[in-house]
Amino acid sequence: MSAQTESEKKLAALEAVKYIRDGMTIGLGTGSTAFYAVGAIGDLVKQGMQIKAVPTSVQTKQLARSLHIPLVEINEVNEIDITIDGADEFTTNFELIKGGGGALLREKVVASLTKENITIADSSKHVQKLGKFKLPVEVIPFAMNYVISQLRGVGGEGVIRKKDNNIYMTDSKNYIIDVDFGLIGNPAKLANELDHITGIVEHGLFINRTNRIIMAEEKTIHQFQNHKPG
Ligand code: A5P
Repeated sequence: MSAQTESEKKLAALEAVKYIRDGMTIGLGTGSTAFYAVGAIGDLVKQGMQIKAVPTSVQTKQLARSLHIPLVEINEVNEIDITIDGADEFTTNFELIKGGGGALLREKVVASLTKENITIADSSKHVQKLGKFKLPVEVIPFAMNYVISQLRGVGGEGVIRKKDNNIYMTDSKNYIIDVDFGLIGNPAKLANELDHITGIVEHGLFINRTNRIIMAEEKTIHQFQNHKPG
């Protein structure tokens, strides 16, 4: 990762954190960009801001704990005010691929409960069409081979994610299949097809779910606001 990319991630994260106000419930994303947002939220807490937070992964929960950010269980909240999370790819039509870090299921649940989803990204994440990054699909282990064959039926070639020579397991004890669809012409249609394959728990296409994308490009911040989130 270049120093430029790291500084863009941090810049986007710090800009997003400016939207946080006292008393809010905050969704904490997962990944190397969200890492900077969690760090900055930790600083706000240290300065006396009263917030509570819902992490999207075990990894983020541990980070938030180490920074003394007050945490709350997702099942104890009815609504989350703001969630700040990264993306593997995004278009300015508010289509995202997420899940490179394996947290897509909890990320989508948290996003669904959130009033204002803010996506933060360095400039390398901006694409005209999604699909260069392989789409993560979370699957129950029992259905793995069935799902791989069904994915072929909708044009995707899937590979089971591994870590240290073992099958990678998500926080919810599922597997991830990283699927090559080539460039995705119609992400909303593909998301709908994936929603209907039995055994898929969730996929990393986030279509029209984000309210705002904050992208840093060198020292410049670009904000894209979604006026019609789904
Ligand atoms: C975690 O599962 C992901 O959805 C991340 O938000 C996404 O992979 C972006 O990660 P980075 O910020 O590390 O690129």
